[in-house]
Amino acid sequence: MKIAFVGKGGSGKTTLSALFIRHLAAAGRPVIAVDADINQHLGPALGLSDSQAADLPSLGAHLPQIKEYLRGDNPLIGSADEMIKTTPPGRGSRLLRIVEENPVYASCARPIALDEGSVRLLATGAFTEEDLGVACYHSKVGAVELLLNHLVDGQEEYVVTDMTAGSDSFASGLFTRFDLTFLVAEPTRKGISVYRQYKEYARDFDVALHVVGNKVQGPDDLAFLQREVGDDLLAVFGHSEWVRRLEQGTEPPLQLLEPANRAVLEALKRQADQAHAHRDPQRYTAQAVTFHLRNAQSWGNTKVGIDLASQIDPGFVLGTDQLDGAHA
Ligand SMILES: Nc1ncnc2c1ncn2[C@@H]1O[C@H](COP(=O)(O)OP(=O)(O)O)[C@@H](O)[C@H]1O
Ligand SMILES: [Mg+2]
Repeated sequence: MKIAFVGKGGSGKTTLSALFIRHLAAAGRPVIAVDADINQHLGPALGLSDSQAADLPSLGAHLPQIKEYLRGDNPLIGSADEMIKTTPPGRGSRLLRIVEENPVYASCARPIALDEGSVRLLATGAFTEEDLGVACYHSKVGAVELLLNHLVDGQEEYVVTDMTAGSDSFASGLFTRFDLTFLVAEPTRKGISVYRQYKEYARDFDVALHVVGNKVQGPDDLAFLQREVGDDLLAVFGHSEWVRRLEQGTEPPLQLLEPANRAVLEALKRQADQAHAHRDPQRYTAQAVTFHLRNAQSWGNTKVGIDLASQIDPGFVLGTDQLDGAHA
């Protein structure tokens, strides 16, 4: 299951994605955590020290190597240089699994031991001043799009991505690459406006969007979210002393999280598990193709110097048949 946490900066995306990751790991589920936010904070939220977080490898820096691996011997892709972030997999491409060893994980993922269970963390890398406003800024998040498009995940296996909600995820197809999107919203007008904007973009692409209220204190906050969000409101996370202790540098065990907040994490897990039945590999693959064609036309063909539409393998569907090794 491919899951994204989005929302306004400061709403609690990193906090809730890290808690959800811990909750899944504690249930013994395999998880790949992906930090794709402009502000890279997921590592520390999962217990890494600042220096450990600073030493994390970045997907952005390994993009050529990632492309070379994923390309495999797909005859439609002439070289890694011809791969853009939306280049879809086809017959001959190498696909990733959540539970496996591969060169991408070996160079880019880092294992993190949690108080219950463990996960692997991938990070896009920090966005430097020079990145802002230029192509490589998008290419860092582009690595995540490329990985998700090549990832075959089974039921009860999870990729949890801490994303930015900004327009960057809409510049490409990234926002359509998830089985489930949790939009974290504080009970404020700004929190709701991000939700409205996201819903507007997501409408045409069957994005499964659910709002998770955060820092909700009391019945007025709850009523506000219910009124503004309606049926899209999945659960509300309260103001948490556990989270505050974490921020203060102590590592409280997950067991001590407030029971009502732990129940929210369980509700998210249930929602993720239910979403499995609604997966549609044909649609997922078709959307990847749609965004590839858009990117090809708007900048890709010019940049690479070929017609990137030729990379599309019409007979290929990213789906469960590859879980049996049929692609190999
Ligand atoms: N439920 C909560 N209770 C208490 N503090 C919270 C809660 N959720 C988030 N915070 C605090 O709010 C701040 C912003 O949260 P963060 O997860 O970093 O937001 P984002 O990733 O969306 O920018 C952090 O200091 C975090 O500890
Ligand atoms: Mg964050």
